[in-house]
Amino acid sequence: MAEKSPLPPQEKTITAVEKITKRLPKRTVKRANYKKLWKLGSKEFNTTRFDISKNDELVIREGNYEYNVHNLVKKYGSSMEVFMPTVLEDRLNSVITAFDRSIKNKGYKGKFTYHYPMKVNQNREFVLSLVAEGAHLEVGSPNELWLVKQLWKSDNFYRKMRVLCNGPKTEPYIKLINELRSNGLTIVPIIEDLNELEALKKFKGDVGIRINLVSKVKSRWDKKIDRFGLLSEEILELGKIKNLKILHYHIGSQIEKEADILVALREAFKTYVKLKELNPTLDTMDLGGGLAVPYEKKKLYHMENVVRRIVSTLKTLSDEAGIQHPNIIVEWGRYVAAPAQFSVFRVVGSKEIPNGKTAKDWYIIDGSFMTDLLDTWSIHQKWHIIPVNNLREKKRHRVWLAGLSCDSDDKYTASDGYLLLPHIDDLEEGESQYIAIFDTGAYQDAFAMHHCLLSSPIKIAVQNGIVSVARERETAEDVGKLFGW
Ligand SMILES: Cc1ncc(COP(=O)(O)O)c(C=O)c1O
Repeated sequence: MAEKSPLPPQEKTITAVEKITKRLPKRTVKRANYKKLWKLGSKEFNTTRFDISKNDELVIREGNYEYNVHNLVKKYGSSMEVFMPTVLEDRLNSVITAFDRSIKNKGYKGKFTYHYPMKVNQNREFVLSLVAEGAHLEVGSPNELWLVKQLWKSDNFYRKMRVLCNGPKTEPYIKLINELRSNGLTIVPIIEDLNELEALKKFKGDVGIRINLVSKVKSRWDKKIDRFGLLSEEILELGKIKNLKILHYHIGSQIEKEADILVALREAFKTYVKLKELNPTLDTMDLGGGLAVPYEKKKLYHMENVVRRIVSTLKTLSDEAGIQHPNIIVEWGRYVAAPAQFSVFRVVGSKEIPNGKTAKDWYIIDGSFMTDLLDTWSIHQKWHIIPVNNLREKKRHRVWLAGLSCDSDDKYTASDGYLLLPHIDDLEEGESQYIAIFDTGAYQDAFAMHHCLLSSPIKIAVQNGIVSVARERETAEDVGKLFGW
């Protein structure tokens, strides 16, 4: 077990906050301080539903319902994912409301439609919650479209729902697109290259085309050469495209600057105007995904502002060009899905970091960054990580986190070089320290893998005062089966 470290320098910040609040009654001080310290209850950081209980534990608030996360993890065990459908619904509704409001306020004549990109999280509970709130869908592969086929079989499915098909159109994919269209689904394949144009020649419904923009955005996925879509000149050379309805682009994910979103829009609009001259059926611009999430709880642009600027830019540009205002589609996946889930792990042990200058100890968790939160490894994703219990512990310890796999890359060292968490040496006999990793609802579930054959966490859902198990924790047998055992 590691030696207890002296108070870390970061404690100074906390002391400063405490100084200001000294004038307030003691209880108010404590409550306000720690909530602020852990960035809870903040609209800006998507943590409005989180609070700290009287006994220093993380709670989720849903109106007059309250779920104590420490109690949940003691009951269901860790590792655990907590899905909050209400957050997902709030996020989607906030996007729809922002567009509808801006469209009305600005006298914009086009309509707005949200398409949920299923690749972000294909779990049934995610997709069903969003469809129930009015999301249309976007799929990127035949297997995702197969899930839509399962939904389509249900009698309760609204017949006017629209599905956009991105991704390489292999033969089985095109076959399924045709099958669903002939069964009455409104399905729009988006042409991404000339082979697809050829393969979809006989398709009877509306189609879209994807433009590969020259503008590049600041994001982790910034790539000099994008392999998706056709260049503006290539698209315009095609002249008339049968049943062309949508001009689509997707410029990147987790776009860091608001201005970049508008630069891309302006560039795409130039092609839209020329393309519409050749194809009067074209009436929709699909801006793809990309809206960012404040994973590290640092200031970021506001969705409502971005929406206002998209609508007013499109209005001004189309009025200047003398064309009808395009209908607008966005496929903002991460923005909607990430805050709807968080992951909980138990600290199962600690190990001193030799000559640890920043962090002093490894805390080993009962899950894995490589198998459960793959982006930590693949794109060095940073997360907001807080204790689930002992949230008002004054003495915090500088640590790095390590996962359960045998891989030396299975670790998290945070952007400041260390995390501040309660010292596990100070725990009472029999007590465990749990941690929560926020905003894990986007991409991580589908990326999950089985390095060292570790099991995926249990997933619980909390809604309407009811806690249900959405997915059981994998057993050794479940995992073995995946590998032919
Ligand atoms: C075509 C398309 N649309 C939407 C998305 C969702 O992007 P985000 O989650 O960044 O909003 C992606 C993600 O890669 C995509 O490829």
